[in-house]
Amino acid sequence: AKTHYHDFVVQATKVKRLCKTHNTITVNGQYPGPTLEINNGDSLVVNVVNRARYNVTIHWHGVRQMRTGWADGPEFVTQCPIRPGGSYTYRFTIDGQEGTLWWHAHSSWLRATVYGALIIHPKEGSSYPFAKPKRETPILLGEWWDANPIDVVREATRTGGAPNVSDAYTINGQPGDLYNCSSKDTVIIPIDSGETNLVRVINAALNQELFFSIANHRFTVVGADASYLKPFTTSVIMLGPGQTTDVLISGNQPPARYYMAARAYQSAQGAPFDNTTTTAILEYKSAPCPAKGISARPVMPSLPAFNDTATATAFTQSFRSPQKVAVPTEIDESLFFTVGLGLNNCPRNFRARRCQGPNGTRFTASMNNMSFVLPSNYSILQAYKQGIPSLYTTDFPANPPVQFDYTGNVSRSLWQPIPGTKVYKLKYGSRVQLVLQGTSIQTAENHPIHIHGYDFHIIAEGFGNFNPKTDSAKFNLINPPMRNTVGVPVNGWAVIRFVADNPGAWLMHCHLDVHIAWGLAMVFLVEDGVGELQSILPPPADYPLC
Ligand code: C2O
Repeated sequence: AKTHYHDFVVQATKVKRLCKTHNTITVNGQYPGPTLEINNGDSLVVNVVNRARYNVTIHWHGVRQMRTGWADGPEFVTQCPIRPGGSYTYRFTIDGQEGTLWWHAHSSWLRATVYGALIIHPKEGSSYPFAKPKRETPILLGEWWDANPIDVVREATRTGGAPNVSDAYTINGQPGDLYNCSSKDTVIIPIDSGETNLVRVINAALNQELFFSIANHRFTVVGADASYLKPFTTSVIMLGPGQTTDVLISGNQPPARYYMAARAYQSAQGAPFDNTTTTAILEYKSAPCPAKGISARPVMPSLPAFNDTATATAFTQSFRSPQKVAVPTEIDESLFFTVGLGLNNCPRNFRARRCQGPNGTRFTASMNNMSFVLPSNYSILQAYKQGIPSLYTTDFPANPPVQFDYTGNVSRSLWQPIPGTKVYKLKYGSRVQLVLQGTSIQTAENHPIHIHGYDFHIIAEGFGNFNPKTDSAKFNLINPPMRNTVGVPVNGWAVIRFVADNPGAWLMHCHLDVHIAWGLAMVFLVEDGVGELQSILPPPADYPLC
């Protein structure tokens, strides 16, 4: 196993998109940031230097961080932010994960431009569970704002309304042919006739689930979130923010240029969204050059309608692990968390411009009616491990405090989220089942729920209210997929299981970033096990304090 050393300089960089030049926060001047490639079993040492004017942290999305929670990255959960002028070196080992993950800033909305791919090849001396691909290509789907993304979220939290939708989607940082001033920078992905290539698709968008497709080419899906899948074929994939999907494509079409494209899957009815389409070009190396003056527009894939929940659902429900997996069958902790939006009344003394949600309210979001508030002067992990004074409490509820018809019409009086910094304690080694139940308060939508420090088995998903009696018959305890981010279906539920085998403070949140700002988050505090082996390692010497 090797150790890979990298320097990440977070800095403002001039970036030209959609006809304008912006002062964009990047890593090493690159947008998207550098791709890290390693083998399963290797270690990473990444020295992050902050030369920007914002606080920053870097999160290694999906990396389990066994015993190295200090390197996980979410600000005020596992560390205090790296202040302007400061630095911090993240050190961790990849142990058992293979496939595609990514890294991103975990501080306000910096991740809009501060992100990159983290590619984990098979362990040295071992190989893929499929024929070795000729080429491998990361495809990072992103969202671009003409405004500074930090200002967009600040404005939303100040007014209580929804943030402005993005101005473009991007593939590897470029909007592509269909946007103004973007044609000549359209990304070109090469392929040769007869070869099979591995395409690693990452949804790095802030707030939007996306469909992705390539004209005339089918995908064989082989992995997601750095776990292998039992292969299946499809012409379109859907990813929530945070999710990755590995697909094989074959160069079996007439040599030419073909568009690959992504656009919104929008499960929330009536909510505004960016309805544009980003494209890149899949180009056969032997394709004839387009003759001068003849328009050589590539073929466009047909993407599902923006509200095609049936296609999105059919896709994710095709996921299976390749083999039988060890799903816990006995459960020590049976949890039921609602996930959804809400509205809070505008306090009387608020000026109206601060309450621009529906009918003069403020948007909020919650799990089990608790709207998570990040600490601002300590990190939860450090407070827990080193007993420093803190204000978090351990009374996050295991069940919703009020029972109601979660997917029906609910009166708002039943459900006004309470702000607080509450964590749920899990005993080291306990076997956890968590039902995530979407609610229809304000807007029902698909919420991509991500847990830090863990992969989990998704043993069932469905629509309506979860019914423990009838729905447990649907549990797949044989070969359910493993993921780190589950899309809880709109007006529906998902059931996940995992063993709490990684001590630390682990954020769970909706990966639609504006929902974090509104409170759709909580923290699992997994207690240290007995004995040296199960215990979290001591913090590094340069660990940022508040
Ligand atoms: Cu991809 Cu909490 O993050």
